[in-house]
Amino acid sequence: MILERINELLSEVGQLSAKNAEEIEQLRLKYLSKKGEITALMADFRLVAADQKKAVGMKINELKQLAQDKLEELKASVGTEKQSRELLDLTRTPYPIRLGTRHPLTIVRNQIIDILQRMGFTLAEGPEIDDDLHVFTKLNFAPDHPARDMQDTFFIETNPDEVTKNVILRSHTSNDQSRIMERQQPPIRVICPGRVYRNEAISARAHCFFHQLEGLYIDKNVSFTDLKQVLLTFARELFGPDTKIRLRPSYFPFTEPSAEMDISCHICGGKGCGFCKHTGWVEILGCGMVDPNVLEACGIDSSVYSGYAFGLGIERITNLKYHVADLRLFSENDVRFLRQFESAY
Ligand code: PHE
Repeated sequence: MILERINELLSEVGQLSAKNAEEIEQLRLKYLSKKGEITALMADFRLVAADQKKAVGMKINELKQLAQDKLEELKASVGTEKQSRELLDLTRTPYPIRLGTRHPLTIVRNQIIDILQRMGFTLAEGPEIDDDLHVFTKLNFAPDHPARDMQDTFFIETNPDEVTKNVILRSHTSNDQSRIMERQQPPIRVICPGRVYRNEAISARAHCFFHQLEGLYIDKNVSFTDLKQVLLTFARELFGPDTKIRLRPSYFPFTEPSAEMDISCHICGGKGCGFCKHTGWVEILGCGMVDPNVLEACGIDSSVYSGYAFGLGIERITNLKYHVADLRLFSENDVRFLRQFESAY
């Protein structure tokens, strides 16, 4: 009888399992405590025949040992499980991952696009590598115009005859004007952001590449008044409702009349500071009515249609908005600079 019970307990104890310290304690009480199963066996042990006492006693010791070993084993396994769970808390948020930032020029370009799209302009892009025809000739640049000069323009390929320098890095986004008018009849209302290149020594105030955004509006009865109102609304949207604009007569081969637009200095509020050279005004764009010669060169009837164009510098506007003193910061990828734009969109 007692041997049967011992064997039963041996197989039972061999299969014990526990999930935590509390369950292990329950098992200890059940088997090894004073009121436990194994202690209870001792009571029956007294009744065992003398010649069997030795064998049964050894069995009981074996059971006791097994129970003790098993509980130790369970304790150890529950312990390591607990430890590894501490290391691997799946509910925790990951390490504080630093968000990437948009480049300040991208932020400002997106703001500009956003404002002009709300005013009805659609977005287009043209090539950075283009030919003389679209960058200069169709835009009414005289053959000897200084902008075609090596001083300003990067030439990728020069024809052997040296007459047409044909593959060039565009020096302004106005090539998009000629490309769009060439393939589309009015009404045209388009903006073209992009990178432009000029052969200039790199310094805090100049770089060999920068970014512009071109605007083009061609339709019947478009006047300079339309241009002025669009630019005023644009400036107020971008720099705030108190912003003033000033148009100064200027010259571009592809617009007539032409103007440069200043805004009241965003940094000193028009009082005069280092940035605006103490004038209270900062130039942000060139503009004008598209010259009829350009319309005709691009296949648009200048007796029916008129229009305006403007080209603005994105770096310049970004400098104004964020007070960036050195143009080189925009292309050096210094994270100490870029991280300052973490909260902008
Ligand atoms: N393309 C001119 C520049 O780069 C800017 C401009 C664009 C002027 C459109 C008038 C009209 O300076």
